[in-house]
Amino acid sequence: MRVAMIGTGYVGLVTGACLADFGHVVVCVDKDPAKIESLLAGRMPIYEPGLEQLVARNVKEKRLSFSTELAPAVKEAAVVFLAVGTPSRRGDGHADLSYVYGAVREIAAAAEGFTVVVTKSTVPVGTGDEVERLIREVRPDADIAVVSNPEFLREGAAIEDFKRPDRIVVGVEDERARTMMSEVYRPLHLNQGPLLFTERRTSEMIKYAANAFLATKITFINEIADLCEKAGANVQEVARGIGLDNRIGSKFLHAGPGYGGSCFPKDTLALLRTGQEYGAPLRIVEAVVGVNDARKSSMARKIIGALDGNIAGKTVALLGLTFKPNTDDMRESPSIPIVYALQDKGARVRAYDPQGMEEARKVLADVDYRDSAYDCLDGADVAVIVTEWDEFRALDLERVKGLLSQPVIVDLRNIYRLDDMARHGFRYESIGREGTVP
Ligand code: UDX
Repeated sequence: MRVAMIGTGYVGLVTGACLADFGHVVVCVDKDPAKIESLLAGRMPIYEPGLEQLVARNVKEKRLSFSTELAPAVKEAAVVFLAVGTPSRRGDGHADLSYVYGAVREIAAAAEGFTVVVTKSTVPVGTGDEVERLIREVRPDADIAVVSNPEFLREGAAIEDFKRPDRIVVGVEDERARTMMSEVYRPLHLNQGPLLFTERRTSEMIKYAANAFLATKITFINEIADLCEKAGANVQEVARGIGLDNRIGSKFLHAGPGYGGSCFPKDTLALLRTGQEYGAPLRIVEAVVGVNDARKSSMARKIIGALDGNIAGKTVALLGLTFKPNTDDMRESPSIPIVYALQDKGARVRAYDPQGMEEARKVLADVDYRDSAYDCLDGADVAVIVTEWDEFRALDLERVKGLLSQPVIVDLRNIYRLDDMARHGFRYESIGREGTVP
């Protein structure tokens, strides 16, 4: 099947490469010539495990190509995916759909024969109707069906998530389009990957409801963690204890510095707006957004507290900057407000991140970037684990102790064991667990 992928950002590139790997012939289109040029040269614009090899293999087999030209790709395609960005609109937090509508106009003008237009971008409920209306306006004669097919890919595990999904949601109200979507995902449902067909508005809602629920789960355990710290309980064991109940489930119960990334913050805000518009306010999600925002400043206070309130002129070594491990993505990373708050109180901030430093440099100024964890810790007054990269779990703790000017670790991801920290003689503060004092 011939597929056009409009928008070669994170979602478009991963989805395009994976669909090519299924045997479809995919053209990934992007307006940014520099991005297309770099992809044609085999360079990935993002870091995602396994992506470079996947792209190279499918380019070689001539199933995957890249182009800045939308019209020819759409003309040839039976299925056109929309994977352009839907950032938060400045001011009101609603999803900015200008890229979506811009692309839809071009698609409508270029399509030939029966064409399925699939919205992969996260779009508020009702957007499919608007896309359909726009297409009719531009091309009253066009034979086009509009489908919603949200993505549930986690950065850092996106290829794995694509190939072994918990479910594929397809919101479709046209029989021919439904058959074509089954064909697109055939290798997956042959493998028992559940394909869930719904109405289009329901599918759009599923995406937001899923992300808001996950954000709620994280925020819930984060608040329980704060209480655990005060009440002398251990949040990791609480999470285990509640997660073993199948109705709750053990995933997404890691307490930390608050959720970040390109999805949860913007999708929760957009869902709140939708709720307001329809006169059905989502008070739980509203609380989640507020609690998560406040958490970022409380993380800086925790670090300052570990130095007895005295951080001016001290050197803080941050290990990890990206919003989570195995990505170079800095969008809405908790590290950003933490760095600002520490600098504001007069601290000198150093940092090391295995993949994120290039992106970090674009958003965080006056940070002394170091090339390794040990180099970052050398002479610092406190080590702070911000992102749980595996390499930090494996640090030689005696060496860490020798490098720091005083043995203080603040661990915002709970990657170390309390008994290890006590044994090595650290002052150790983590999330939702009692600290250790040498
Ligand atoms: C998320 C959704 O998981 C995915 O289905 C959706 O399509 C896009 O948004 P992603 O943003 O890549 O994916 O990250 P995810 O792994 O879900 O983590 C989001 C944030 O929550 C991160 O900041 C992470 O550190 C935090 N988190 C996650 C926790 O603090 N605790 C947890 O238990 C899980």
